[in-house]
Amino acid sequence: MIIGVPKEIKPGEKRVGIVPSGVSAFVAHGHKVLVEKGAGLGSGIFDDDYRKAGAKIISSVKQIWEQADMIIKVKEPLDNEIKLCRPGQILYTYLHLASNETLTRGLLKQQIIGVAYETIQLDDGSLPLLTPMSEVAGRLSVQIGARCLEATYGGMGVLLGGVSGVKPAKVVILGAGVAGSNACTIAVGMGAHVTVIDINPARLRYMQDIMQGRLTTLMSNRANIAEEVAQADLLIGSVLVPGAKAPRLVTKDMIKNMKPNSAIVDIAIDQGGCIETSKPTTHDNPTYRVNDVIHYCVTNMPGAVPRTSTYALTNVTLGYGLMIADLGIDKAISCDKALRKGVNLYKGKITYKAVAEAFNMNWEELPEK
Ligand SMILES: NC(=O)c1ccc[n+]([C@@H]2O[C@H](COP(=O)([O-])OP(=O)(O)OC[C@H]3O[C@@H](n4cnc5c(N)ncnc54)[C@H](O)[C@@H]3O)[C@@H](O)[C@H]2O)c1
Repeated sequence: MIIGVPKEIKPGEKRVGIVPSGVSAFVAHGHKVLVEKGAGLGSGIFDDDYRKAGAKIISSVKQIWEQADMIIKVKEPLDNEIKLCRPGQILYTYLHLASNETLTRGLLKQQIIGVAYETIQLDDGSLPLLTPMSEVAGRLSVQIGARCLEATYGGMGVLLGGVSGVKPAKVVILGAGVAGSNACTIAVGMGAHVTVIDINPARLRYMQDIMQGRLTTLMSNRANIAEEVAQADLLIGSVLVPGAKAPRLVTKDMIKNMKPNSAIVDIAIDQGGCIETSKPTTHDNPTYRVNDVIHYCVTNMPGAVPRTSTYALTNVTLGYGLMIADLGIDKAISCDKALRKGVNLYKGKITYKAVAEAFNMNWEELPEK
């Protein structure tokens, strides 16, 4: 197969769909990899690194889309890219079609096979190609929150870990899933006093066990949340109800009770946010204040650390990418149920129910091969 890797063109997106070790793997399996000139620069990967791994560097993105049997990307294609798609071409990337009707209709018209990272799903319900980005966002939330608390950034001037003889900061984390548990690990590691709140007792038990009592776990209810939020120096929102908008667990009134110049990082903002005063922000202008509380609500936090995020993403995309290239898409999806769930579009048809339902359109289950 010919694999094409264009440079991402979405504003601010610095990740790339493949790393040099991924190129080597495809080449070792007998495939050809075309990488657009400069595609990896935002992630600190040079054309020469790709060349050494066996890729061909191509200046014209048009040529890549013309020749590739499978395009590997990070973000959904923009208008200019949709026009370049060819019938039967495999597009392997984050698609998030259910929130974008124009994109869905555009790709249907181009008759591509759209394999969406975000819907590849294992039998236990987990989404292995989304997990690494939640890990990144969770870990980053503490780093960013610590920065927000510094006086130079308008914060209350508290060091997260404190020092001997001085109390550490109090960090309250809502949600002990992938992002929340990663936030816990970093906050505890930095010496903060951490409380994590979840609605699932099994997650609380797990956190209690792995952190060996070095944090406080609390059941999620309004009274516990109100009490903890009022005491927090840094509040991190990382709850998720799969397939739904994030529950608004922290009200405006609770925010009024927070300390002046305390900080909030609402990771769940990409699902609407779990704090009533949250609204989406960008890396260019990441924070704003409400009632003297700093709010950080960037919807694509992993974009702040593109190198780490690119490597974390490609660690999990490569295996399925190789399977598609080695077996061909039809055989690959008949062998692997998780990958089959990733196919949202198949040559002009919607093959993922939730996408069709979002726009009142028809869908067809993928035929068994
Ligand atoms: N902003 C970003 O750049 C970015 C990046 C990655 C992930 N995210 C978002 O972070 C959020 C968390 O993702 P995740 O992968 O950790 O999800 P996850 O499913 O692993 O964890 C979510 C946790 O929330 C808990 N929860 C649900 N309802 C709750 C409630 N009422 N009270 C307390 N806890 C509750 C669940 O029990 C679960 O443990 C999602 O909204 C995800 O989209 C954002």
